Amino acid sequence: MIEVSNISKQVSTAEGTLSILDKINLSLAAGESLAIVGPSGSGKSTLLGILAGLDLPTAGSVSLNGQDITAMDEEGRAAVRAGHVGFVFQSFHLLPGLSALENVALPLELQGDKDALKTAAYYLQRVGLEHRTTHYPRQLSGGEQQRVAVARAFACRPTILFADEPTGNLDTGTGEKINDLLFDLNKEEGTTLVLVTHEYNLAARCGQRLVLAAGRQVEESAIKKQPAAKKKAVINAAVANPKVQGSKY
Ligand SMILES: Nc1ncnc2c1ncn2[C@@H]1O[C@H](COP(=O)(O)OP(=O)(O)O)[C@@H](O)[C@H]1O
Ligand SMILES: [Mg+2]
Repeated sequence: MIEVSNISKQVSTAEGTLSILDKINLSLAAGESLAIVGPSGSGKSTLLGILAGLDLPTAGSVSLNGQDITAMDEEGRAAVRAGHVGFVFQSFHLLPGLSALENVALPLELQGDKDALKTAAYYLQRVGLEHRTTHYPRQLSGGEQQRVAVARAFACRPTILFADEPTGNLDTGTGEKINDLLFDLNKEEGTTLVLVTHEYNLAARCGQRLVLAAGRQVEESAIKKQPAAKKKAVINAAVANPKVQGSKY
């Protein structure tokens, strides 16, 4: 489903070449969940953008559903994104001039779905917002806005959902409800879930974790061997004191 082979990302800056990601590998089967964790600036968002076909690596390849998106042109990647990929962002990214229902329906309408409003209403109900369909984003709380964003992402029935710190702007209780919703929909719809998160509780709920430290993949085997209850502590320790793959320290 998602196969990542040796991807690296470098960018040119005034100070010279900056390495943001260094030889990342991963393999995720359909319907599984992956958490990308690591401190701020470790390359999580850059990696997510590359996996979703929004950005290109400098080296290495990414294939989604057996299609090598790194070998495609922008038009090809756009087609793969439209057919397979959904997004949820930390800052919701709703259109302020559209109601909750219209926000969810818009991408469906753009795909030519004649039942866009009906499907949108179903997914708003699914996230518990059937009583907020005519509200505009400014009339909704942060948690409600993120629920609209989750409904919008799932309404397009993506095979893979990418979420970049989806609960980063929410209080803990509200965030928990969003997380529950992401995992419920992941199960119900068989959607593959790739999350960037700072929350170790959330990372521990995912089937797989990819721990980044300064753009490098931290050894995960130490985490896998632990029972669920210990994973949080082990991930914390790995991030605080990274034993980086392929390095001597
Ligand atoms: N286009 C870019 N040009 C220069 N530096 C960048 C660019 N994109 C990201 N970076 C840098 O790369 C590092 C990783 O960024 P990012 O992927 O956003 O990290 P994270 O999401 O883990 O906080 C940061 O130090 C960031 O400033
Ligand atoms: Mg980020």
